[in-house]
Amino acid sequence: MALTGLFLCTFLLEHLYGNLEFYKFDGGRAFNEYTEFMTGNLFIRIVEYGLFAGIILHALDGLLLTISNRKARPVRYAMNQRSANSTWFSRNMGLTGSIILIFLVIHLREFFFPHRFGGSEETMAYSVANAFSRAWYASLYIFSMVLLGAHLNHGFQAAFQSLGFSNHKYMQLIRYAGTAFALLIMIGFASFPIMFYFDFGGISSAILNK
Ligand code: HEM
Repeated sequence: MALTGLFLCTFLLEHLYGNLEFYKFDGGRAFNEYTEFMTGNLFIRIVEYGLFAGIILHALDGLLLTISNRKARPVRYAMNQRSANSTWFSRNMGLTGSIILIFLVIHLREFFFPHRFGGSEETMAYSVANAFSRAWYASLYIFSMVLLGAHLNHGFQAAFQSLGFSNHKYMQLIRYAGTAFALLIMIGFASFPIMFYFDFGGISSAILNK
């Protein structure tokens, strides 16, 4: 879980970095060039297989862990101040993870599959601007990004703990780093549906009117 989780974190950073091309406010040109470059690059295409394998392994591992945690204590403690020992999000990684997986299927169905396999004629920037012009679609993203942030906030430090970092001083530092990372990913990704829906800087109209 720790290794696949940290690998997926590096993908998130790369993906966020790519999306930042939208902040050039150039009618989506730089973003389109970036995605065309990524699609045409053989090395990236091979890494992509690793990415999908990583997502599947992480989800399966998570499912097995959730099941074995349940089996370990089928009868809940009669006395348990759970909120004093842990947060709701740390106890429900399986639930937040499952919702993120559903988000991912919706996300890939909208952007990835139509372009890669469906012969879509739209530019990638057009597809993004078009999708985020729907209020429910933009809201779904913002909601999912909040859950992703919560999932990462616990997952990041849990990964380092699994890898053997247990020293109190380091753990405190890792916890801060995890929270900073989770906030960066949550705010960074959520900024796109907000920016497109409200047409900040005329970004959507510049792309959709072309
Ligand atoms: C609002 C933010 C986001 C936008 C605008 C966005 C946009 C896109 C676009 C346009 C593609 C297709 C790229 C291509 O095929 O070349 C894509 C692919 C993908 N996205 Fe996102 N994405 C966002 C957030 C996320 C998040 C949060 C995740 C993961 C939890 C994610 C996971 C993926 C994956 C796995 C792919 C397919 C692999 C790839 O093409 O790199 N995306 N995204």
